[in-house]
Amino acid sequence: MAGSLRALAFLQTLPPDRRQPNLFFAALRLVGGLPEAGVAFDDVLTREGDAIAAVMRARRTQTNEPGRCACLLPLLAQLDGPLALIEVGASAGLCLLPDLYGYDWGRARLDPPGGTGAPMFPCRVNVRAPLPEHHPEIVWRAGLDLSPPDLGDAADVAWLEALVWPEQTDRLAGLRQATSIARQAPPPVMAGDLTRDLEALIAQAPADARLVVMHSAVLTYVSDPGARADFARLMRSRDLHWISNEAPGVFPDHAEGLTPREDMFLMALDGRPVAWTGPHGQSLDWL
Ligand SMILES: C[S@@+](CC[C@H](N)C(=O)[O-])C[C@H]1O[C@@H](n2cnc3c(N)ncnc32)[C@H](O)[C@@H]1O
Repeated sequence: MAGSLRALAFLQTLPPDRRQPNLFFAALRLVGGLPEAGVAFDDVLTREGDAIAAVMRARRTQTNEPGRCACLLPLLAQLDGPLALIEVGASAGLCLLPDLYGYDWGRARLDPPGGTGAPMFPCRVNVRAPLPEHHPEIVWRAGLDLSPPDLGDAADVAWLEALVWPEQTDRLAGLRQATSIARQAPPPVMAGDLTRDLEALIAQAPADARLVVMHSAVLTYVSDPGARADFARLMRSRDLHWISNEAPGVFPDHAEGLTPREDMFLMALDGRPVAWTGPHGQSLDWL
């Protein structure tokens, strides 16, 4: 992109919050297919620029990566259950079903409870990672998203698939398997803004389960630092567990005293760092 004047000029026609690589590449691929070389890339932009821009204005980066559950599940399994799970920025809600997937952590495996057809997510772990022998008991779950994709809508599903980088075919297979599990047991995801509508959702959680509010790759899109701070205050003021799985710059206080790890997320429980995680759930380095 940096070498293509055509691409740079194109991006300048879009609002700053739409000039995101994931959004651009997914829109370009959705409209024009996968270009094989730089020249083809410029050709697609010249031919289909308006259609690509329309997708980039209408859609957002909603990469729903159920493989992240391979990192979230060991932490969830450490909490006293039964659990009530809220995910903010849930996209289509695939990470709300960690108890329905299987995991291969190398030195331990957890088979999916439903048997065949469910994804088995691989994840490299360090020796410290506590690996559960059982799925945690999740008795209630709900998601919140600015615009939840509908897994029954072919265009929404095509968008989620376009967001998976083309060479990462294992991720695509996992997404498709998780999607078919979710169609059998659809996780409810409400349309709403986590900076405004979370309290109302918290009020709906059952009193007899331990409430967990979690998010991964979401608060980075809340660009106002004041709104992030308000969110963190809400998390600390309520009787709940808060799991944050984000780039370390999102909540710098979670990363205090840690040596930054390039291209890794930091998973924190109730504001305390717990593990470095691969951004798509591919690795778990427990602290
Ligand atoms: C990169 S996706 C991550 C989805 C999911 N958490 C996962 O790990 O697979 C970010 C999601 O956050 C949502 N989002 C961003 N800002 C939000 C906000 N203020 N309130 C609710 N959802 C938001 C987007 O719509 C998008 O679906």
